[in-house]
Amino acid sequence: MLSPRRAVATAAFCLIVLYLIFSSHSSSPAPAPAPIPIVKPGTSDAPDTQPETHQDNGHKANAEQPPPPSSDETAIQRIRKPVEKQQPMMDMSQLSLYDKLTYQFPYDVESKFPAYIWQTWKRNPQDPKFEFGDQEQSWTDQHPGFVHEVITDDVAVHFLRLLYASVPQVLEAYAALPLPVLKADFFRYLILLARGGIYSDIDTYAIRSALDWVPGRIPRSSIGLVIGIEADPDRPDWKDWYSRRIQFCQWTIQAKPGHPVLRDVVVRITEETLKRKKSGQLGRVVDAGVVEFTGPAVWTDVIFDYFNDPRYFDMEQSAGAIDWRNFTGMEASRKVGDVIVLPITGFSPGVGQMGAKDIDDPTAFVKHEFQGTWKPEELRHIGEIQEGKTDGEAR
Ligand SMILES: *[C@@H]1O[C@H](CO)[C@@H](O)[C@H](O)[C@H]1NC(C)=O
Repeated sequence: MLSPRRAVATAAFCLIVLYLIFSSHSSSPAPAPAPIPIVKPGTSDAPDTQPETHQDNGHKANAEQPPPPSSDETAIQRIRKPVEKQQPMMDMSQLSLYDKLTYQFPYDVESKFPAYIWQTWKRNPQDPKFEFGDQEQSWTDQHPGFVHEVITDDVAVHFLRLLYASVPQVLEAYAALPLPVLKADFFRYLILLARGGIYSDIDTYAIRSALDWVPGRIPRSSIGLVIGIEADPDRPDWKDWYSRRIQFCQWTIQAKPGHPVLRDVVVRITEETLKRKKSGQLGRVVDAGVVEFTGPAVWTDVIFDYFNDPRYFDMEQSAGAIDWRNFTGMEASRKVGDVIVLPITGFSPGVGQMGAKDIDDPTAFVKHEFQGTWKPEELRHIGEIQEGKTDGEAR
């Protein structure tokens, strides 16, 4: 007898196999029938990628033009290279992890931002002991028509097994991570790489709809990642408090599936995890190490590396390297290639420092409950709340 779970898994597996078979034809010049509709701007009705209902209508016409400069948005000139098309190939065993992920989760900047909201927590909102009802409700209220999922830890394992069935290293790394907070960090990158949409920590309020996060005149077909600034400590002793001079936050992220930044962060965490597992170092991750291992430090590094990556940007035609100086003190969102960086007020309003404005500012979009997530002692609130246990050694 097939148990219901097994039946679902089998069905999903068949779909993935079908998808793989058919998608290998899709880079041939003649249009091939695709079993899963590919959502392009202006089309609608994909089963799992609901359209941004009132966003695209006005922007189709100027989708090819660069956004005009304006007072509330500035672009850093960074010329994007055309994205290389993947060659069809079915034998993935010879590919690097990076190439496997590229093949498995192709990135199309012109696709829509899928209307998903992903969150994780140890219990689901139907549980009477669920602690974040108001926060969770704020996401639903602000995003009618979005699919909003709070994935519990138990479900996450099965879900990832389906999504990453063909990339077993990733599953091995996820299973090996010894703390709930590490898994929670990793999960956000994994789900966004595979499905796209919005990830937000469960202890975060949605103040404004994601449809308002990016200025309306910027074509959604020209961007694939929306990030915010967690910290911009303009003080000489910043190293005592923060891991990076500019730190991008990872409690809220919006992405299209397959974005290269997500691919890179998944590769780094997977490889580092498996390396530590092999050498028996995994159990020694202490609070302060989480920031570097899976948290905002590695996230920030990956983003800056992307901004300076000649595979994606034409460095000859761009105005020099990009580092924290290009984002410090910024008051308007900034576009770098296909990435929108929101000013600190966007995802960190009301912190009372670093130039962040209050939560009633029109550019305040989400409110993360816990301050000072960069401080080791407060850092891993999720780990603590989830009563995460380390067993000392990984195995
Ligand atoms: C980033 O800022 C530096 C100044 O700190 C500037 O020289 C450089 O041109 C900027 N990079 C881009 C790509 O705009």
